[in-house]
Amino acid sequence: MTLDIRDGIAIIALDHPPVNSLSLALRERIVEQLDAAASNPAVRGIVLAGGERAFSAGADLTEIGTPRQFQEPILRTVIDRIESSSKPVVAAIAGVALGGGLELALGCHRRVALETARVGLPEINLGLIPGSGGTQRLPRLIGIAAAQALMSSGAQQNARQLAGSGLLDEVVSADVVGAATTLVTKIVDSGAPFPRARDRNLDISEVRTIVVAQREKLTARQRLQPAYGALLDALVASSLPFDEGMKKERELFLDLVPTAAAQALRYQFKATQDATKRPTELTAPPRRVGTVAVIGAGTMGSGIAIAALDAGLTVQLIEQDAEALDRGRERIVEHYRARVAVGKLSQEIASSNGDRLRAVIDWHVLRDADLVIEAVFEDLGVKQDVFRKIDAHARPGAILATNTSYLDIDQIAAVTSRPEDVLGLHFFGPAEVMKLLEVVRGSKTAADVVATGMSVGSTLKKVPVLTGNAFGFVGNRIYNAYRRQCEFMLEDGAWPEDVDRALTDIGFAMGPFTVADLSGLDVAWRMRKAQAATRDPRERYVAILDRLCEAGRLGRKAGAGYYTYVDGKQSKTTDEAVRYVIIKASAQRGLHRRRLKPEEIQRRALLAMVNEAALLLAEGVAGRPSDVDVVLVHGYGFPRWMGGPVFWARKQDRAQLQADLRNLAEEGGHGFVLADLSPLLNA
Ligand code: NAI
Repeated sequence: MTLDIRDGIAIIALDHPPVNSLSLALRERIVEQLDAAASNPAVRGIVLAGGERAFSAGADLTEIGTPRQFQEPILRTVIDRIESSSKPVVAAIAGVALGGGLELALGCHRRVALETARVGLPEINLGLIPGSGGTQRLPRLIGIAAAQALMSSGAQQNARQLAGSGLLDEVVSADVVGAATTLVTKIVDSGAPFPRARDRNLDISEVRTIVVAQREKLTARQRLQPAYGALLDALVASSLPFDEGMKKERELFLDLVPTAAAQALRYQFKATQDATKRPTELTAPPRRVGTVAVIGAGTMGSGIAIAALDAGLTVQLIEQDAEALDRGRERIVEHYRARVAVGKLSQEIASSNGDRLRAVIDWHVLRDADLVIEAVFEDLGVKQDVFRKIDAHARPGAILATNTSYLDIDQIAAVTSRPEDVLGLHFFGPAEVMKLLEVVRGSKTAADVVATGMSVGSTLKKVPVLTGNAFGFVGNRIYNAYRRQCEFMLEDGAWPEDVDRALTDIGFAMGPFTVADLSGLDVAWRMRKAQAATRDPRERYVAILDRLCEAGRLGRKAGAGYYTYVDGKQSKTTDEAVRYVIIKASAQRGLHRRRLKPEEIQRRALLAMVNEAALLLAEGVAGRPSDVDVVLVHGYGFPRWMGGPVFWARKQDRAQLQADLRNLAEEGGHGFVLADLSPLLNA
């Protein structure tokens, strides 16, 4: 084993591309090099360095759940060896130091980082807590409050923000290994005992006060995930003697690994990675996209423009008249103003983004666009007119996308001379925030156009999921089936607040009737009216929403929908007028109203999603079962720690699931198509 020694300092380089994940082999190598450095009299101190891209991104995810994860030297052992080394160790951090990677650095005696480095402890996002001393060393280095904030957010922080914080002793603009070498030499020369996180003690009463306050502040959704409580328990233990705290952290960590939430979060992580990967049959390289034209500067168009500006793209915003254009531009300007005001964005970046925006009503600019995204009114005729115009102005080879929620991509593509360049890019509102992007492939869409849609999604920091071209694609198809089931439950005997509460109780971001009020009941009403002529009269059709709209209850914006709103605040229960409409609907269907338990509501809502997911798979609209879960979690507020409807279904007793679904189909009446669940459950 050769050791890289420079002026008496051994440089131990982590070398496991691409991100130095802490595999068993890497852990063994670190220990070997530590041993070599310890026994070599020419070595006075040690620098532990990563690569440019990563100091270390943490655990090797392919090892999680396998015996290798627990095979010695486990990460705890490696860190222990570093901390108790007879020669001082300084970490030189460039790129990312995340999870176990940061815990490794915390075991070093000092840490130096490049100013562009990013650090974080994202374990909470996988339903876990740091398990290699992070919960014990970090509070000792930066204080309990700051440590709690970093670990419970799971977010990455820039090195620059942490300069001199105790987490990072020095932050430099270049040559991080050189700076670490200088620092370790200084430590050796000083002759003083070198600092170890484990030797510090925390004030017990301060720790307890902060933890008690944080426990009270946990949100309802956090309380549903055991890791948040466990993190606080681990933090309490950081006021104990170090080894006792470490023992407690280990117990808490091991208890979390098999929990349903941690399993589901690991599954979601992998499912999201799979969904965003370009399907293997799409070998065609994506086309280059530098300039994006967004047509329609309404709610969605302005959000899409912001997402593109944030990603460093040049944006042309096009409207039908100056007034609408000004409104759209103002929305974007205001968005950046607000982000700067709250310190989320620097003025410099906001200005640079603003400089790349060109808002016009002249369609000739389209000749410079690589990608055109249409976000005008949801009306086939209007969209077809717009696409004729796009076709006339866009350069050959430009990609033409529609943000339609429901319309047929092929019918839109058909009015152009180049249907192979047309696809759907279905964003979710607010488009600058929501992660999901459905990339919809029309029957004539070329492979490289689909590939470009997927890669643009990643550029925009979205989660792109490929779907087929069918009414509502994947997300809205499932959401409609779910909402319909929830409407059935109103007729059967539940009130809107019963349904909403049952679903938020298991972690849905919002219940369906609160969502409906928020988006405006008139959107659905218009669609229902458009579909009335083709609707099968034998279908179980719940007309409650229509009656509410006829009474002027169009949702939150009208001050009343399923709920009433005073000063924008939603009433806790629905009022008599709404209940009257619902009771009448039950009576007309000849139903004797009965109380629905929360468990029944939850189960029926989930079953409806599962059934529709199986239908979408059979139709080929959804590519893989796990794609459905990615869509629901990233676009519809489905609790991530439940994995998604497919993950949920796989955890159920199969015979019971089938029996319940048959019941659902019977009660759903004519038109409820019972799906074959086996492809979904077996995959
Ligand atoms: P919106 O009504 O806020 O904006 C539409 C904009 O298009 C308006 O500013 C209008 O002036 C402009 N426009 C209309 N005709 C035009 C033309 N011929 N040329 C140029 N501009 C024109 O509508 P919103 O909500 O932004 O929806 C746009 C599209 O996005 C629709 O297809 C909708 O289904 C889809 N969508 C909407 C979501 C939402 O949450 N609102 C979510 C996902 C998709």
